[in-house]
Amino acid sequence: MTEQTHAFPHGNFKKVFKDIYLVSGEMSIKGRLPLSFSRNMTVIRENNDLVLINSVRLNDSGLAELKALGTVKHVIRLAEFHGIDDAFYKERYGAKVWSVNAPYFKGVDFNIDIQSGYFQADCFIDDSTALPINGSKAICINSSNPKELLLFLEREGGILISGDALQNWAKPDQFFNLPAKIMMRLMGFIKPYNIGPAWLKHARPETSDLKQIIDFRFEHLIPAHGNPVIGNAKEKFLPAFSRL
Ligand SMILES: [Fe+2]
Repeated sequence: MTEQTHAFPHGNFKKVFKDIYLVSGEMSIKGRLPLSFSRNMTVIRENNDLVLINSVRLNDSGLAELKALGTVKHVIRLAEFHGIDDAFYKERYGAKVWSVNAPYFKGVDFNIDIQSGYFQADCFIDDSTALPINGSKAICINSSNPKELLLFLEREGGILISGDALQNWAKPDQFFNLPAKIMMRLMGFIKPYNIGPAWLKHARPETSDLKQIIDFRFEHLIPAHGNPVIGNAKEKFLPAFSRL
């Protein structure tokens, strides 16, 4: 077995749209000042098959809820920092892991090669990849290091699913500890309709590359951090893009 994390505390599944569900949970980073904050997993049902995006390991009751939705078949990793639970779903359900072309690594050394990562995906996603979700397309931010993806769904007027690139933490939620409430506000994370500040600073995507996102018509955003934006999502994010 690959080294796996334990299940952190998390909430129940919420239905966002037909066949699209969201579960929010805690992530904790150890250090002199341990930070706990929230992250989201989106689950898309294709007939009876489930596709997990930005995977979050669930506890036993969460796994029972997941089982009631369908059979786990695929995991999609959009952001380098959101792969820690992929191995769990691969090993428990035999899920195929589709990943952004970035190594699975811990820490902040962005120059590690793919093979020295702690886990290997089954395949990497690029602009031409046919994803296991009907009417979907990957938007690849190839100029960033590490690379990042967003997922575009042609339904409900256009839905974007993001990793770290687009976030919507209007305020800290129940999964934040006190240090994270203070530090992450100071670091610019606590802001609605936000481009992920740490990702922007360290991964350094080219502005033109990032702005390809707004070439897509999307009404809704389901981010890995913060609440879904339901309705007028593109319009709400335009000020963040114009500040780039
Ligand atoms: Fe993140």
